Amino acid sequence: MDLLKDKVAVVSGAARGQGRSHAIRLAEEGADIVALDLCSDIASVPYPLATGADLAETTARIERLGRRVVAIEADVRDHASVTAAVDRGVQELGRLDIVVANAGIVSYAVVSEVSVDMWQDMIATNLTGVWNLCQASTRHLVDGGRGGAMVLTSSSAAHVGVAHLAHYSAAKAGVVGLMQSLAVELAPHRIRVNTVHPTAVNTPMLQNEVTYRLFAPGLTAAVDPVSPPEEVAGPLRSLNSLPVPWIEASDVSEAVLYLASDRGRYVTGTQLRVDAGSAVR
Ligand SMILES: NC(=O)c1ccc[n+]([C@@H]2O[C@H](COP(=O)([O-])OP(=O)(O)OC[C@H]3O[C@@H](n4cnc5c(N)ncnc54)[C@H](O)[C@@H]3O)[C@@H](O)[C@H]2O)c1
Repeated sequence: MDLLKDKVAVVSGAARGQGRSHAIRLAEEGADIVALDLCSDIASVPYPLATGADLAETTARIERLGRRVVAIEADVRDHASVTAAVDRGVQELGRLDIVVANAGIVSYAVVSEVSVDMWQDMIATNLTGVWNLCQASTRHLVDGGRGGAMVLTSSSAAHVGVAHLAHYSAAKAGVVGLMQSLAVELAPHRIRVNTVHPTAVNTPMLQNEVTYRLFAPGLTAAVDPVSPPEEVAGPLRSLNSLPVPWIEASDVSEAVLYLASDRGRYVTGTQLRVDAGSAVR
């Protein structure tokens, strides 16, 4: 329970899904949390993003663990907002040790139909947003003088080509380049930087009708976000080596915890796949 005692972590996209799971898992191990989320929709994203109520639920669950939390609505696309949010979190919680750059979006189209807005929102959120959070945090990690860890959420889509996801894959591969350079640059400060690469994860990004129809264009069954039909699960299962259609957010949180804690103290510059073997198919 004490792997992260006396540590402070900032988690983006913390209102729901993997970000909520990561924030709670780190808090279970003793970390106080700066929880960032946009809490509103983006026009080019074809499913609802998190709400203020979602962020409040994350906050309540961390507080129930006895940890402190500073929840801030901020857009990772906006450098000034992210910097102000991180500064405020450090001011209130006293320091910063861990950065989990998890906020992200997805949208789907073949290359010829990716609109300028889709491309720009994708790069602004999934790549520039990661950069913004890392840059806003670096000074605090260095000044803290105790090293630190950054875990950047990429995707299996950085390792394999996926139709309808070129803009997403480009952003997620860019995160790898960012991670590798940061790992070299920050190593003298004992700050480790790694990426995690999940396959499909059971979160609202996956469990919505638009995503279902990408994998099952002729979907006939009723859309059930808790228990999707085999028409959807089958094609998703075929992407993985292990016989599962998707993994749970908690599976990724264990990887994040390993990389963020001293259990991974000499691990830096790596791409940790939590992908049910999708990249080796
Ligand atoms: N779900 C999957 O299948 C899957 C697979 C591989 C990688 N990923 C990645 O995992 C990360 C987490 O996604 P998830 O599965 O939890 O999805 P999700 O949609 O449930 O959560 C994403 C969170 O990010 C927030 N967000 C989006 N844009 C933002 C912005 N501009 N500023 C601040 N917050 C913003 C959303 O409000 C939401 O709370 C993303 O980077 C995603 O690309 C997801």
